[in-house]
Amino acid sequence: MKFSLIALFSASALVSAFPVADPEPMFDERQAAQSISDAMVAKGKKYFGTCTDPGRLSAGSNSAIIKANFGQVTPENSMKWDATESSKGTFNFGNADQTVKFATDNNKLIRGHTTVWHSQLPSWVSSIKDKATLTSVMQNHINTLLGRYKGKIYAWDVINEMFNEDGSFRSSVFYNVLGEDFVRIAFETARAADPAAKLYINDYNLDSASNAKTQGMVRNVKKWIAAGIPIDGIGSQGHLTAGQGANAPAAMAALCGAASECAMTEVDIQNAQQADWTNVVNACMKQTNCVGITVWGVRDSDSWRPSGNPLLFDSSYKAKTAYNTVLAAINAA
Ligand code: XIL
Repeated sequence: MKFSLIALFSASALVSAFPVADPEPMFDERQAAQSISDAMVAKGKKYFGTCTDPGRLSAGSNSAIIKANFGQVTPENSMKWDATESSKGTFNFGNADQTVKFATDNNKLIRGHTTVWHSQLPSWVSSIKDKATLTSVMQNHINTLLGRYKGKIYAWDVINEMFNEDGSFRSSVFYNVLGEDFVRIAFETARAADPAAKLYINDYNLDSASNAKTQGMVRNVKKWIAAGIPIDGIGSQGHLTAGQGANAPAAMAALCGAASECAMTEVDIQNAQQADWTNVVNACMKQTNCVGITVWGVRDSDSWRPSGNPLLFDSSYKAKTAYNTVLAAINAA
């Protein structure tokens, strides 16, 4: 803000004598009174983030809003297997590179998303039948992806969505061919590829402590960590509907108790009551090892599940009441 005021009151010669790459955004760029990420950091958390990708960054006010209001980005699609290695051994990092460049240029933390996931997975991977081939394919994919961005990623979702609703392991090429050992292979490979990155296991419907899926995650992560598998964190996606925020604090207490850190990684709330947002914020704030919250998109109309206006900005890129509710809950924590 200081430099914006100088710009207002000074001759352009003075401004060009003191070039500032990233002055504090003006209010109209922020579309909100205060950055929710700055508020999180002031409370000892690492970030409040959102997802994005080049198509979004070049549209509307997305870049300006992310620069002004968020402190972390997750590539929404550009790091997924179908985007990065659609045919065996041929890698494409165009969109992922652009997203990483935007984040690093603007001092945003990055959550890498994701390496081992049954969805958005090319059929050349899902049709592999033997252990040796799948192991080397996984290792090569993880090494190449994490290696490219080594040192630039705060945390990686190494495994995404591996549990069924009853807490058992989902049928996927990874589990079907390698059994539970795919977890060890994935995390050990990721640790070696980027030793500084926090390594996460991420899933949805971990939104109540009483869900069998939440309990399966907790039980297995404790077991895997005890067995020496390098898992640093549990991510709870947090795709919610009205009223579900009430269960989030107890759910996060359970998840955060099973690993050295935890995060809410893809939050959106369809038809949210304001209390849902307050509860979600409190769910992270109450756990000392919860590092941050990421919402899955900037404006409602760009959400992957747009019904029920699940995000913090409306289709005109205006900060909603939900944004101010989140801000107030962070500041009150
Ligand atoms: C979604 C994206 O938002 C969509 O653009 C895409 O078409 C499908 O995937 N869980 C995840 C995310 O881990 O990667 C998903 O993102 C949403 C559910």
